[in-house]
Amino acid sequence: VVLDNLSTGHRWAIDEKAVFVEGNLGNEKDLESIFTNHKIDAVMHFAANSLVGESVTDPLKYYQNNVAATLTLLQTMMKHNVKKFIFSSTAATYGIPSVDIITEDTATNPINPYGRSKLMIEQILADFASAYDMEYVVLRYFNAAGAYETAEIGECHDPETHLIPIILQHLLGERENISVFGSDYDTEDGTCIRDYIHVTDLA
Ligand SMILES: NC(=O)c1ccc[n+]([C@@H]2O[C@H](COP(=O)([O-])OP(=O)(O)OC[C@H]3O[C@@H](n4cnc5c(N)ncnc54)[C@H](O)[C@@H]3O)[C@@H](O)[C@H]2O)c1
Repeated sequence: VVLDNLSTGHRWAIDEKAVFVEGNLGNEKDLESIFTNHKIDAVMHFAANSLVGESVTDPLKYYQNNVAATLTLLQTMMKHNVKKFIFSSTAATYGIPSVDIITEDTATNPINPYGRSKLMIEQILADFASAYDMEYVVLRYFNAAGAYETAEIGECHDPETHLIPIILQHLLGERENISVFGSDYDTEDGTCIRDYIHVTDLA
């Protein structure tokens, strides 16, 4: 069962074998009808707003959609005794780490509302695990990239802010310039080393 409000997602990207519900994560009625009408074993939560810059100029949107709406989801799960949760967090929870190699134990110190909104949910999940026996997994990744091997679905954002699709748009003649930010890193050309996970590996 896929719940999406199509705010940045696309109807065509949802497999026709899935039951699709167009609705809002923060809307108790939308959630209630899903949990009542379907047998839900686990929830994989990937819905969020995720533009770092926008989170700085409009933090309310991020705390509302990434924190408050997620709390509504968790509340509905508790009510229906669903206790397995996979959460798409972000490496933005680390902020600017003092070490080169980050592990799960590296201190988290997010530097923008987007990262903070995700860390808040991680903390809520830890509390839910000890109080309500919730079993959860948190995925903190840097950049997801790529397309499914059949090429039926892939990255499709508007505006596009992700570097790999931007490079591909440039190669297709759809954009004149590419801006790569950061020029004084300790690398051959001064640009930073970026970390990517293929979306299929992530799935
Ligand atoms: N793309 C990356 O590089 C990256 C890196 C780290 C973490 N993440 C996280 O992965 C998840 C997915 O990111 P993405 O890049 O696919 O973004 P995306 O914007 O393409 O996907 C988010 C989806 O959630 C839906 N959505 C948002 N708010 C909703 C709401 N209130 N109710 C119902 N649906 C809602 C959107 O319509 C969209 O389909 C997010 O949680 C994001 O923070 C992404």
